[in-house]
Amino acid sequence: MPMSIEQGLHMARGSGETSYTKNSRIQEKAMFQIKPLLEEATREVYTALHPRIMVVADLGCSSGPNTLRFVSEVISIIDRYCKELGIPHDHPELQFFLNDLPGNDFNNLFELVDQFKRSTTINHQEEARPPYYISGLPGSFYTRLFPCESVHLFHSLFCLQWRSQAPKGLKGTGKTLKDKGDIYITKTTSPSIVKLFQQQFQKDFSLFLKLRYEELVFGGQIILTFIGRKYEDVFSGESNHLYGLLAQSLQSLADEGLLKKEKLDSFYLPIYSPSVGEVVAIVEQNGLFNMNHVKLFETNWDPYDDSECDVVHDSFRSGVNVAKVIRAVMEPLVASHFGETILDTLFKEYAHRVAKHLEKEKTKLAVIVLSMKKLNQSRYPSIVP
Ligand SMILES: C[S@@+](CC[C@H](N)C(=O)[O-])C[C@H]1O[C@@H](n2cnc3c(N)ncnc32)[C@H](O)[C@@H]1O
Repeated sequence: MPMSIEQGLHMARGSGETSYTKNSRIQEKAMFQIKPLLEEATREVYTALHPRIMVVADLGCSSGPNTLRFVSEVISIIDRYCKELGIPHDHPELQFFLNDLPGNDFNNLFELVDQFKRSTTINHQEEARPPYYISGLPGSFYTRLFPCESVHLFHSLFCLQWRSQAPKGLKGTGKTLKDKGDIYITKTTSPSIVKLFQQQFQKDFSLFLKLRYEELVFGGQIILTFIGRKYEDVFSGESNHLYGLLAQSLQSLADEGLLKKEKLDSFYLPIYSPSVGEVVAIVEQNGLFNMNHVKLFETNWDPYDDSECDVVHDSFRSGVNVAKVIRAVMEPLVASHFGETILDTLFKEYAHRVAKHLEKEKTKLAVIVLSMKKLNQSRYPSIVP
């Protein structure tokens, strides 16, 4: 059976140099890009429903600074809006739920929450701000997490590219000769394997939409930001290169005898980066949400490269930076499959390969943002079993 990510997935823990906390600037930049949509959705929900208690959930929060940025942003939006409405002291109470898989570093997250609370108390002692409460919520977002019709706003940043598991059947099918070494879709992946990745995405994303539909109040909204694909061609994805280079690095360690080839043959990443067309098709098929916005933007692979140009100025430095990002995200998954001893060598090799790639071609990551509102009446009369 393919490993379920609930058993093993988490980002690199703690707050050290290789931790997710210290290596989440790409996500921070994406958060900045989606601020206007977050503002629009939060205001619309508040205007339409005027909840006295507004329930807001961050799905796949991990344990880095972006989660608290999101919390802080929603508090500020409501605060500003109430001032604009002339009711500066009549805020709703905000209840935040920070969700991730049980293996997430919730201890580190709770320390960040505590620091955040102390900083807001110090900075805003005299000001009236919406009262807020923050709870952690372990569990997979591919399961029900909340009671029916209890959440006003869902948010998820850089998570929906994760599948609930590597596609079922891959091990049974076995990698064909030309697929050996692949850990995700590459230009030479056989169509039968590509189809399994696509089916897993369709199944997971449909389920996710149905579950969130059940949990949202009518008029509630949802904002999803995740790694996607710029073009419809499934073999063309920009993230295919990113994971392809990781596959090549693993292969080179296998060639040197540092890891077992059979281990590589049974390893696929539980991810899929869809195109906008694939995402929209599923939302429309499900018929549960009105799409307010769907767009795609691009971001440089190197989180510290803020330039717009198509040239990488220091490919060695960029290689190291990209390797840090991918290590913070993939390290636990790679370590649980291949063992911890390969990590330093693997990500050094990876940094080298990324640098070589960027020298030839500045590749960017495609990011999809989707903001939706729960339809008042579903086309399906009842989806609650
Ligand atoms: C790249 S991190 C993004 C964290 C944070 N939202 C940010 O932007 O910095 C992706 C997170 O999604 C979580 N995740 C993946 N699949 C999940 C699932 N099925 N249920 C809950 N969390 C999940 C991972 O554990 C990880 O913490």
